[in-house]
Amino acid sequence: MRRIYLDYNASTPIDPAVAATMELFLTDHYGNPSSGHWAAAPARAVLENARRQIAALLGCEDDEVVFTSGGSEANNLALKGVYFARREIGDHIITTQIEHPAIIEPCRFLERLGARITYLPVDRFGRVDPIDLSLAITPRTILISIMHANNEVGTIQPIEECVRIAHERSVLFHTDAAQSVGKIPTNVNDLGVDLLSIVGHKLYAPKGVGALFVRRGVALEPLIHGASHDSGRRAGTESALLAAGLGEACNLACDLAPMKKVRALRDHFWRELQNAFGNRVVLNGHPEYRLPNTLNVSFIGQVGADVLQLLDGVAASTGSACHAGQITLSPVLHAMGVEPETGLGAVRFSLGRATTRDEIDTVIARLRRVVSEAA
Ligand SMILES: Cc1ncc(COP(=O)(O)O)c(C=O)c1O
Repeated sequence: MRRIYLDYNASTPIDPAVAATMELFLTDHYGNPSSGHWAAAPARAVLENARRQIAALLGCEDDEVVFTSGGSEANNLALKGVYFARREIGDHIITTQIEHPAIIEPCRFLERLGARITYLPVDRFGRVDPIDLSLAITPRTILISIMHANNEVGTIQPIEECVRIAHERSVLFHTDAAQSVGKIPTNVNDLGVDLLSIVGHKLYAPKGVGALFVRRGVALEPLIHGASHDSGRRAGTESALLAAGLGEACNLACDLAPMKKVRALRDHFWRELQNAFGNRVVLNGHPEYRLPNTLNVSFIGQVGADVLQLLDGVAASTGSACHAGQITLSPVLHAMGVEPETGLGAVRFSLGRATTRDEIDTVIARLRRVVSEAA
């Protein structure tokens, strides 16, 4: 059975250009970037180059980039870092019900320390209403964290409008851009955000590396205390190997042209599903404000996990689980008000730069077979 990968929102393969850039650091360039001798120079140079490449993608200054071990750490650093730096000013944070666990769980942790967290609802397309945000802000609000685009359904949030509301009330704004970087524009000045998280392995770089954009002047308590790496914002000898990979991946991601092809394939996929299944298939997520690579659909009357199993060889994700006859919807679909019977049949297909028309047509043909089989 031919294997087809349609789970790019979970992780991407490493781009060959990224791998080539990293290769030298496996065998050579082993110096500590902070040392004062010849062995440090190549490592230091590549770190600074990577910082420049990340900054170029985000439209920020080099010194506004902090390397992290990935998206979870970047999000934890944003939330806890701001909370610990500003808790004399206030103790209230606003986020949404559809964030990734890398936001929800640090928020729950901060609640245990005494923070007050508001989890904003979303509409049936997964979008936050800026009016709800405006009403939730109090004089004690220190931070708002709203994801740029959702990992499950791809819905894109009205970040610019939310940032305007936050700044009118002097509240800092963070966005988790793990899923949006490299797929849609993510210039921090166009968005207006104060903090923004990116993740290497969603972007054709390796796992274990990411970055947090921290606007100049934003005070942040580090999560990891130690020597003064990354301007005192994250201690630990930097990995030139991983930084080089992330930098090159960001360099490639500046060109959004490949996303045109991805969007066209994704739209072809959706049209063909509608032709095949009519009203037995529904779209989850916003029809327009949605990542160009993401297609989350529910096969009515089916169980997403069963469909995936029958689709033998196709890597994709489900949005719900069924244990002992009990349906557990993902918190995202639940917050969107998706009926359990519909949510149970949800499957997320996420396409990438390497996805071909032939792969999509093969998956459609297999779906035609297995979905009618299981009905
Ligand atoms: C929206 C979002 N934020 C954060 C993360 C966490 O990234 P990592 O697993 O690299 O820590 C992910 C990964 O799935 C994600 O999709």
